Amino acid sequence: MARHFLTGNELSAPELEALLARAVQLKDDPLSSRALAGKSVALVFQRPSTRTRVSFEVGVHELGGLPVVLRPDELQLSRGESPKDTSLVLSRHVAAMGLRTGSHALVEELAAHASVPVFNMLTAEHHPCQPLADLMTMRERFGPLAGLKLAYVGDGNNVARSLAVLGTMAGVDVAVASPAPYALERDSVPLSPEATGRLTLHEDPREAAAGAHVLYTDVWVSMGDEETAAERRELLAPYRVDEALLEVADPDAIVLHCLPAHPGEEISEELLYGERQRIWDEAENRRHAQKALLELLVGTATLSP
Ligand code: CP
Repeated sequence: MARHFLTGNELSAPELEALLARAVQLKDDPLSSRALAGKSVALVFQRPSTRTRVSFEVGVHELGGLPVVLRPDELQLSRGESPKDTSLVLSRHVAAMGLRTGSHALVEELAAHASVPVFNMLTAEHHPCQPLADLMTMRERFGPLAGLKLAYVGDGNNVARSLAVLGTMAGVDVAVASPAPYALERDSVPLSPEATGRLTLHEDPREAAAGAHVLYTDVWVSMGDEETAAERRELLAPYRVDEALLEVADPDAIVLHCLPAHPGEEISEELLYGERQRIWDEAENRRHAQKALLELLVGTATLSP
């Protein structure tokens, strides 16, 4: 039976730890693995992407495989072919398939009918590939993750939810601060039974940021949220990650952002390009972490802690 990666909680805690360690090895020696030699991976993008697209496409190539990037207008899915039939056909040609789309139900439907691994490259509800790179970046800076605190400040969106799932699985205490209309709902977070970190939800950004080792934010208006853009910018204005908020964090705290950024909105320009950020390492680490994920999903890796 194929292994899928749809919310992140499909991993065990030891697998996550081993995956992050493997990602570091792959960063040190990017062409050392031929795990996808002779194999192809479908990458279906129904929404725009810079980091996810490039990191997966280059990552599959570095693993010796062929990335098959597909946009919506290139698939019969856009002309009414069912997700089931699309999944059955792609399964006959590729070793794994990734999907970026709005509907989480669509990625679940593809997975339900796939005989190869399906991985989520972003849905409106989850973005589990992102925290793999975030946790790798934290590991590079701090070493062991257990006991660290990450404060996510801003829209309680797909990135916040995935950080909650995978961060707590890695033993990180995840504090999410958002205004009430855009708060992350605890019941919407499929926490792993193996999670050892705590998830706390806050309205006060300073309360969440207190003592944090990582301050994290994302855009205030995500793809699909354009209709509420004005209200979001007003309600989220007090949630900007800036020097004042960094003051209440741990003295060694770093700043992360999944990108793309809107400097002056959710993050100050000084922090985005300053000495305390690890944002550009984080963007690079998408490729290394996802290569480790592909090794695991396609089945050539035996990850153990
Ligand atoms: N962080 C992220 O997923 O970036 P892209 O939307 O550019 O892929």
